[in-house]
Amino acid sequence: MTEFRVAPPTVRNRAGDDEASRHSRREFIKRVIASGGMQGCSSQGTVPTAVAGSVERLVRINVNGQERPVDVLPQETLAMTLRYRLGLTGTKLACDRAECGACSVMIDDVVFNSCSVLTHSVRGRKVVTIEGVSGANGELHPVQQAFFDELSPQCGFCTPGQVISAVALLKRNPDPTREEARHAMAGNLCRCGAYDNYLNGIMRAAAGARAT
Ligand code: FES
Ligand code: FES
Repeated sequence: MTEFRVAPPTVRNRAGDDEASRHSRREFIKRVIASGGMQGCSSQGTVPTAVAGSVERLVRINVNGQERPVDVLPQETLAMTLRYRLGLTGTKLACDRAECGACSVMIDDVVFNSCSVLTHSVRGRKVVTIEGVSGANGELHPVQQAFFDELSPQCGFCTPGQVISAVALLKRNPDPTREEARHAMAGNLCRCGAYDNYLNGIMRAAAGARAT
């Protein structure tokens, strides 16, 4: 009979990291924060199939400062359009029912769950995804840098949504209290429970802005 073994997990606490392992974890976190680098999972891995009588229609939507022509179905959600038609896979799909915040994007600087927004409804509005928050030369947004410095993500799956919500928060309230930040981030679930790490990052980013 075949015997299956599971390798014991390598457990290191942060204080016990040697320099090499800390470096590789930092590199991992940096990639996750910068690009939403982990592939999302979804019950639907492709654009929705057309229901009888529905046809794709060409629309133009403004995403990350660019006008993007794209064919979409009448019932297509923005999350599906971003991920599977425009290739912007930093926006994650998890619950696909407006419960977790993994698919957060900004529309005219307000956070929305893109899994619950019809693509047709964002014509004439400005959509910003995780790919659009970093600088023109690829430098990290201050929130991304702060999350990196605080080692905020664990698995990283929720990180793009956390970044989007934190960026939107600091746009409307550059100097939030920790409680205000916690309240603003309540729509972004983190299965790893890294909530305090993300709050540490937000407070660091706010403090950095105050100091400049
Ligand atoms: S995937 Fe949109 S809220 Fe969970
Ligand atoms: S870091 Fe894993 S789900 Fe948030």
